[in-house]
Amino acid sequence: MDKHKGYDRAYQESMNDPEAFWLDAATSVEWDVPPARAWTEGAGWFAGAMLNTCHNAVDRHVAAGNGARAAVIYESPVTGQARTYSYVELRDQVAVTAGMLAKLGVVKGDRVVIYMPMIPETLFAMLACARLGAIHSVVFGGFAAPELAKRIDDAQPKVVLTASCGIEGQKVLPYKPLVDHALEIAGHKVDHVILWQRPQAQAELIAPRDLDWAEQVAVAEPAGCVPVAATDPLYILYTSGTTGTPKGVVRDNGGHAVALCWSMANIYGAKPGEVFWAASDVGWVVGHSYIVYAPLLAGCTTVLFEGKPVGTPDAGTFWRTIAAHDVDIFFTAPTAIRAIRKEDPEGRFISEIGTGKLRAMFLAGERADPETIHWAEDQLDMPVIDHWWQTELGWAGLATCFGLGDTRRKAGSAGFPVPGYRFEILDENGHSVPNGQSGSVTVKLPLAPGNYASLWNNPAGYAKAFETFEGYYETGDAGHIDADGFVNIMGRTDDIINVAGHRLSTGQMEQIVATHPAVAEGAVIGVDDVLKGMIPMAFVVLKAGQSGHAAMEKEIVALVRDELGPVAALKQVHVVDALPKTRSGKILRATLRKIANGEDVATPPTIENPDVLRQIRELFPVAA
Ligand code: COA
Ligand code: AMP
Repeated sequence: MDKHKGYDRAYQESMNDPEAFWLDAATSVEWDVPPARAWTEGAGWFAGAMLNTCHNAVDRHVAAGNGARAAVIYESPVTGQARTYSYVELRDQVAVTAGMLAKLGVVKGDRVVIYMPMIPETLFAMLACARLGAIHSVVFGGFAAPELAKRIDDAQPKVVLTASCGIEGQKVLPYKPLVDHALEIAGHKVDHVILWQRPQAQAELIAPRDLDWAEQVAVAEPAGCVPVAATDPLYILYTSGTTGTPKGVVRDNGGHAVALCWSMANIYGAKPGEVFWAASDVGWVVGHSYIVYAPLLAGCTTVLFEGKPVGTPDAGTFWRTIAAHDVDIFFTAPTAIRAIRKEDPEGRFISEIGTGKLRAMFLAGERADPETIHWAEDQLDMPVIDHWWQTELGWAGLATCFGLGDTRRKAGSAGFPVPGYRFEILDENGHSVPNGQSGSVTVKLPLAPGNYASLWNNPAGYAKAFETFEGYYETGDAGHIDADGFVNIMGRTDDIINVAGHRLSTGQMEQIVATHPAVAEGAVIGVDDVLKGMIPMAFVVLKAGQSGHAAMEKEIVALVRDELGPVAALKQVHVVDALPKTRSGKILRATLRKIANGEDVATPPTIENPDVLRQIRELFPVAA
């Protein structure tokens, strides 16, 4: 009982008097105009207050005398580089990057798209936008040109920031042809592309649109921090919805800064000056929140790692980085641990290298299977904490609040509601279900600070998340609360899947598959995968008269890769005679998924064409 007293107290305070709780949390932020209120219905969190997120993440630490402290450790096994930036150096880099953007006409409220690899300039760029009050939209490097184009068309940026290449393991991936192609197909025209040339690949610049980043920054004047309203957008981050159109999650400045500062101390237990490493990518929400903003807002040192858990150069790279840089708290995706375990099941690297000062490892992004948790705890001999969140929320809604002294964990569960969040599991009629029973995972309104308050250009899409259950946010996940109060997330209720911790939409893949001229119809489902958690798999029916199935399967794989990007990881396409359907014509995706997972599934009574299952069952023998 004692062990979670701190958590219980904080949770109760956040529920009983959220105003006092969040106004108190807001004192960890420096405001230009301090908040008089925490939540205002219709106006948002800390409405009326003003601040600058970059000032809070960078300049204020210098002003407080901590300028010599390490702010960013860039560790790049793929290039053999490592470099540390102090807070003073970070401030100077960010200020001139902001100056460069300001000179090109970027002002408060303008959008800037950032399509960059995991290099320090990406952080400088994000923080430079925040400094000016401009709104950045970072696009993950694993997306193809059409996806980048969609985001450019929606966000309408003045400027695109990019680099000459990304590096994926041994592969150097030139970015410029992709950016050029995206700008060709996008309807929106940008003023400039600013490109950081990396020695691994030189990109050709097209005058007068394209500018060399290093040349521009060399002549830029440092720019100061522009105060913005707490409710003004800090960034747009596009994430997969259920359709082919990505949802532009808008994050505000004030609620975000307060929530992230609170989370560093109370969820992760990280103190100013400590080293925090989130092994993710800045293109995902985990990267935005816990590579860039949260560690810096809290005055910690953040690690920017350009590499993979395995192959750069081996399965010891995480532990080597942790030991070399005295990492205190580590955060990664279960997939990364599964990849390490596959290569080093005995944990030889861990015994050889050790884990230095590491106190805890946090996992998120997909369900952490108990086997992975147990393996990691045995190997690391420290708490391995699963916690749950979403791009929409921006920080964890379920966790074991390690920073509040809570150590309760149960493998397979994502922990307890974080202070500020009231979770309810609802049945299809919107009634709360008893503990132990599964239902839709919802959060009672208002959402917590830092959670999304809108979708860019898409009020109807935003409203949809609140329509099914009045007064609640529908997370899209299914789960249950057990007798001890642990919340278990079991999967999605829609067609979103998490592949290696990357959020993707099977609906979107289906739309792409359907554009292949030989395809009559198709279904894409997520099937279990021992490494990536889930992988997409397509079933297609060809138009009459089409032959050459093997070639067609390859073409469809290539099509999804070209349209969505390599990150889609669609590698398996099965040409079938027909798709199983109900009498009303609905594709029986759940049945397909179970068969593909090797389950011994009964033929559903609603099926119109039971014979087609025979062919599909033959493809996937029932697991012993
Ligand atoms: N830029 C360009 N391409 C990228 C990319 C990026 N940033 N990220 C991934 N890709 C490519 C990969 O190179 C791969 O291409 P390929 O088909 O040509 O091999 C493809 O997209 C699929 O990538 P991925 O699913 O990541 O598989 P992988 O085999 O390259 O790596 C893991 C497997 C487990 C090592 C890797 O997925 C991993 O580290 N996962 C952790 C995920 C994570 O941190 N998620 C963040 C959420 S917390
Ligand atoms: P993303 O928006 O990319 O962070 O993906 C959010 C989705 O990932 C959630 O809605 C869940 O389906 C899944 N997810 C994230 N973290 C966890 C977790 N710890 N356990 C189970 N599912 C998770």
